[in-house]
Amino acid sequence: MSLPPEEQDEAREENMLIQTLRPQSFKEYIGQEVTKNNLDVAIAAAKIRQESLEHILIHGPAGIGKTTLAYIIAKEMRANLRVTSGPAIEKVGDLAAILTNLEAGDFLFIDEVHRLSKLIEEVLYPAMESRSLDIVLGKGTGARTIQLPLPPFTLVAATTRIGLLSAPLRSRFGSTFRLEFYTQKEIEDILDRSAKILNIPLTPKARARLAAASRATPRVANRLLKRCRDLAQVEGRASIDEEIVMKSLAMLEIDEVGLDAQDRKILKVLIERFNGGPAGIQAIAASSAEEEETILEVFEPYLLRLGFLTRTPRGRMVTKIAWQHLGFNPPPENPEEPQNEQLL
Ligand SMILES: Nc1ncnc2c1ncn2[C@@H]1O[C@H](COP(=O)(O)OP(=O)(O)O)[C@@H](O)[C@H]1O
Ligand SMILES: [Mg+2]
Repeated sequence: MSLPPEEQDEAREENMLIQTLRPQSFKEYIGQEVTKNNLDVAIAAAKIRQESLEHILIHGPAGIGKTTLAYIIAKEMRANLRVTSGPAIEKVGDLAAILTNLEAGDFLFIDEVHRLSKLIEEVLYPAMESRSLDIVLGKGTGARTIQLPLPPFTLVAATTRIGLLSAPLRSRFGSTFRLEFYTQKEIEDILDRSAKILNIPLTPKARARLAAASRATPRVANRLLKRCRDLAQVEGRASIDEEIVMKSLAMLEIDEVGLDAQDRKILKVLIERFNGGPAGIQAIAASSAEEEETILEVFEPYLLRLGFLTRTPRGRMVTKIAWQHLGFNPPPENPEEPQNEQLL
């Protein structure tokens, strides 16, 4: 996979930014109090017993702090973290190589764990459960299984799509944590922390505007902050004020609640072609030229959170406030607003 040079530069810069802004400890990790408290106790107990931590599953929307949390957990346990991902483990041999190279106490982080193949999952079960790697040698009647013992290790897995995980895999985690969208105040705190690290003052009004447009997501907040810093520097300003924020957001076509051109396109398609819905996810994907997965993982969670979209048994519906936000008149005989029924 090779990107054009300018995109490589951008990716590299983005990576560096993520590294510099990434919290290194629970203390720096803002919000997610329930998860932090539970992990704190589990880590302290494991340390007292001098045992490794039980396997941990972390789920939640993209950019919400799953990877960061995995690094922090390993660091708190003073352990190494080996990093891989569901799509990177293509063959049983890939997983076998990773597992046999683990050292006692290591943490293994598997990102996008919902993308592991069935075959690989089945190798993972005994590895998680009884720390053994079962390898089948030969075929047919001559086939035999050999079992290699593995050192004690902790698997930390992350996913944006918990619903896609098989029940047997889910049941093998000692604990599961769901990371939530951040409050306005928490995003403001994250912006303050990042602005300090990036060494650029941020006025309170600018901070409030930026936080509101950050989709309740730290990664987005940091990315927008960086764009604002660029513009402030180009315009010779010593700090990021409200004007810089508004100008940056306009340049990025992001509105005051954080919707970008693609979010608006999806809502518009639903309004104009489906009269607000309900419409199935496949139909929406086809009409908006977005991938179904991207809609489910990137766009929909925040639109649901905003209350702009609801899920009904018959598909997605645009709510009255979303019609109004986009400058449309909601249909007058709009049936009573559907409950946000949980589908799937
Ligand atoms: N709780 C948090 N407090 C402060 N910054 C955070 C927090 N969670 C995430 N971030 C920031 O957001 C960025 C994206 O987080 P990341 O862990 O990569 O998200 P995910 O793995 O869920 O997609 C990180 O680089 C970090 O700077
Ligand atoms: Mg991640």
